[in-house]
Amino acid sequence: MNPPESKPQVPLYEEVANKVVEMIDSGTLPIGSRAPSVRALAKQMKISVSTAVAAYRFLEDHGRLQPRPQSGFYVRAASRENVEEPEMSRPPETVSDVTVGDLRLLLLTEFGQPGTIGLGASSGAVSDWSIKTVHALMSSISRTQPLLSASYPPPAGMSTLRRQVARWYMRAGCKLTPDDVVITSGALEAIHLCLRAVTQPGDAVAIESPTYWGILQTIEMLGLKALEIPTHPRTGPSLDALEVVLGQNLVKSIVLIPSAHNPLGSIMPEDSRRQLVAMVKKANVPLIEDEIYADLTFETTRPRACRSYDSSPSASSNVMICGGVSKTVAPSLRIGWCMPGRWIKEVTGAKAWLNIASPTLPQLALAQFMDEGGYDRHLRKVTSIYRRQVERMSDLVAEHFPRETRITRPQGGFLLWVELPEGLDSVKLHDRAIKNGISICPGVVFSATGKYRNCIRINCGLLWSAAVEQAIPTLGKLIAEMTDS
Ligand SMILES: Cc1ncc(COP(=O)(O)O)c(C=O)c1O
Repeated sequence: MNPPESKPQVPLYEEVANKVVEMIDSGTLPIGSRAPSVRALAKQMKISVSTAVAAYRFLEDHGRLQPRPQSGFYVRAASRENVEEPEMSRPPETVSDVTVGDLRLLLLTEFGQPGTIGLGASSGAVSDWSIKTVHALMSSISRTQPLLSASYPPPAGMSTLRRQVARWYMRAGCKLTPDDVVITSGALEAIHLCLRAVTQPGDAVAIESPTYWGILQTIEMLGLKALEIPTHPRTGPSLDALEVVLGQNLVKSIVLIPSAHNPLGSIMPEDSRRQLVAMVKKANVPLIEDEIYADLTFETTRPRACRSYDSSPSASSNVMICGGVSKTVAPSLRIGWCMPGRWIKEVTGAKAWLNIASPTLPQLALAQFMDEGGYDRHLRKVTSIYRRQVERMSDLVAEHFPRETRITRPQGGFLLWVELPEGLDSVKLHDRAIKNGISICPGVVFSATGKYRNCIRINCGLLWSAAVEQAIPTLGKLIAEMTDS
């Protein structure tokens, strides 16, 4: 018989610190108030003065108390630095069907509901001035070039926009020509066309875990299967796991979001990108690189696209870039693109027979916006706003959610991934939140295998307001009610 497991010993000062945190969380010790003196605490808890000092030092190190000379310790609001990050994910190592539940469709309809705080969506709303500029360009182009703006564009898109996109990707380290680019109706169509060009129904596709649910939906629509790869919240997918998968010939394609991942905000380091491209080339497996958030990374220079590490000419590359402006300018424009490398003919053909081409006018306006430097200026502005808002939202979550909560440290974009205490059902939380006028995105939709039920994704890109600030304490209360019941 095994000996009974001994409980890990928590030092006395830490037990005392935990009791003080309970007093803070319950409001007995409000934020900003003075904590009892060390002597008073020692007396109250029947401990030595040195244990009380150790407890306060511990709370100071964890950002919950702030010492003030000759005055004592003061209660601080919890901040993101004191909250742990999620660990590397551990999805099942098997290929699985993706069954997209009704939940994803429900979420899509719910996100934009007037009167709802859309924390569940993944679109930024701080792009007011730039969308006004693009709209003004559309109206001026339709007046000055009515026939052109009303005509069918070529299936691959307007050459003016394809030129701008090819030029833009020089920043991502890619050498592209307008002929390498296909304009699509949003990035999701680009992913769909690329995946369709390189797979047959029944094939398996490797994806990050968690991953953007549109990718899962596309996999399901094309009759494919998914293989979820362990993914780190800062550095992205495990290359060791991918190497095994490629070595065993388990997948026909890989779809990744290497830059400012949705939902994790992770960025694959340069070395990993280089290694990944070498791996997929060796295995002759196409890599679909979803770059939609890459221009919103918080570092001053955006990461190089994985494709830039492929020295082969574009027409023979097996790295397919997908991107668009839904996250940077506006999703309503429905402008995406792909640079499908070796599969340019197949993708252009599929685009033509699916919907002939994407609308002309937004393409012309966006091309002009990019050409005149508006896109670049806009990105610099929104990225710093998103960064501040992600930090503020993280602090609010740290302050109002249970102590066991973990949050990511996004390096770009505007999404925050929150791991709630084990066992908390985020679908039920979603149902309660929506009754309180708040939409959230439950974690379960980011997995093919029903993982992440205790996680939620929060949109920090909303136009910031008192109502947005208030939504997090409200969610915190709903979570507390669920954990108490
Ligand atoms: C990672 C990722 N890729 C693609 C898309 C789809 O973009 P679009 O609206 O341009 O089709 C999204 C939208 O949420 C996304 O988050």
